[in-house]
Amino acid sequence: MSTTLSAQHQPLLAKAQQAQKNAHAPYSHFKVGAALIDNTTQTHSGCNVENAAYPLGQCAEATAIGMMVVNGGNLIREILIASPNDDFCPPCGGCRQKIAEFADKNTLVHMVTQQGEIKTVLFSELLPFAFGFDKD
Ligand code: THU
Repeated sequence: MSTTLSAQHQPLLAKAQQAQKNAHAPYSHFKVGAALIDNTTQTHSGCNVENAAYPLGQCAEATAIGMMVVNGGNLIREILIASPNDDFCPPCGGCRQKIAEFADKNTLVHMVTQQGEIKTVLFSELLPFAFGFDKD
């Protein structure tokens, strides 16, 4: 979709990068930050939280989603993922399913590299034909 970082992305990017600084990534040394805007217009951020028992590590997106739920949000309008290097950091498969739980057809995913390159896609492009139940 879009490829230009603009002023509208700055608040989310700043929150994601702040969280990224606190990432607990002593095993991969790959610090990721995420920030999202929910249906209550609140912003929530997260970082990856690794564990010595490697499979127990949590991605940045999952942390941000948990923060949203704690604070009463239940729909992701936009989520931004800040990469620690010059490649985009698209959400992993597990995170795509976690985002799907709180996404609608308009949910946007912004991926931003360390040097500020941005790629924006509709979430539905990342996980078409997603598994889920109707929520109402
Ligand atoms: N990671 C994230 O936090 N988000 C992603 O979208 C991809 C990967 C984390 C998991 C692990 O702590 C580290 O990055 C290396 O895979």
